[in-house]
Amino acid sequence: MAREFLDDIYYMPDINKEWNMNDVTYAVSYLARSVKIDRIVALDDFDVEKAAKLREHLRVPGMGDTTARYFRDKLAMRMRAKEVGINAPEFVQILNYDEIKKFLKKVEPPYVLKPRMQAGAIGIKKILAPAELWEVLDKLGDDQSFYLLEQFIPGDIYHVDSIIYNNDVKFSISSKYENPPMEVAYEGRVFTSRTIARDTEEDESLKLMNKQVLNVMGLLRGVSHTEFIKAISDGKFYFLETSARVGGANLHELVKAASGINLWEEWAKIELLGGKGDYELPNIENNHAAILLSLAKQEWPDMSAFSDKEVVWKLNKKYHAGVIIKSENYNRITELINGYVKRFYEEFFASYPVPEKPTD
Ligand SMILES: Nc1ncnc2c1ncn2[C@@H]1O[C@H](COP(=O)(O)OP(=O)(O)O)[C@@H](O)[C@H]1O
Ligand SMILES: [Mg+2]
Repeated sequence: MAREFLDDIYYMPDINKEWNMNDVTYAVSYLARSVKIDRIVALDDFDVEKAAKLREHLRVPGMGDTTARYFRDKLAMRMRAKEVGINAPEFVQILNYDEIKKFLKKVEPPYVLKPRMQAGAIGIKKILAPAELWEVLDKLGDDQSFYLLEQFIPGDIYHVDSIIYNNDVKFSISSKYENPPMEVAYEGRVFTSRTIARDTEEDESLKLMNKQVLNVMGLLRGVSHTEFIKAISDGKFYFLETSARVGGANLHELVKAASGINLWEEWAKIELLGGKGDYELPNIENNHAAILLSLAKQEWPDMSAFSDKEVVWKLNKKYHAGVIIKSENYNRITELINGYVKRFYEEFFASYPVPEKPTD
């Protein structure tokens, strides 16, 4: 983290564990007695609704509670998508048992039971048969209404990362995960994503659908990481989820390698503009890029052998290995990834169970 750019840091008790919005509200309001707060920015998914609540309380401009809900609550996203006819998996709210039973009769398994407000595939469970669902719901007890159930759609998972200014998508770039993030998280895989070939039909339909999603969810300004499934069964894209933040897993570095666009920097510019005046997108480079990430057996894995000229970034994190490659040539990226993935498995790969709750 670039702490040298921060004037001050205030610490709170671990609010992910001891979730207490009142304390946060008191603390920030106390701070606001002496500091004028112009903007509140959530740096990760878990902060999106906290930031919205604070804006509502302090009356600071930016996204409020209602819109934030569409970018955090997977049930709210599903319901909104359905209202406007965006293609998405069939789903049911975990609330009324008759409705759940109707859903189980209508929709074929497998299903996924997922927390409405998590991230990073935490708490997601594949359900193979109705009996299994009731068992899991029993265990969840009073927590079950914080979940939704949806149809599992086998397919590839894509993500579109974009910049939005005054409801207009100013920039978007689409990429595809080599393996679905759920498999990466639960079965242990090298995580890979690569930008998809530009101006192909796939690219255009993803960008179009991304625009629709962001418009109907009502993102006024900021950045978004939005995901889609391309179903094996019918070849169509299904809306998976959206968010009002920069994508995790170093995906901003992938975007930067491919396009030259730094999502964090652009987001900061947009916040400062605050809707007044025009936002000008920097020149975009047209490269292809791919990212590989893995847990590593070694504390500091030796990545020096990844020395092809296309390597533009390496991860520097204990027990992790990661590289980004970029090239104008799409085929060169394919060739490099195939070799690199194999070497990652041979040299570094390790897996670790997904935590039940977020760890940081
Ligand atoms: N309906 C679905 N059909 C198939 N796979 C799914 C479905 N929902 C989730 N997944 C899998 O679980 C992963 C995480 O789900 P997602 O809704 O994106 O939540 P998270 O916020 O944890 O990323 C997805 O990337 C995908 O691999
Ligand atoms: Mg996701």
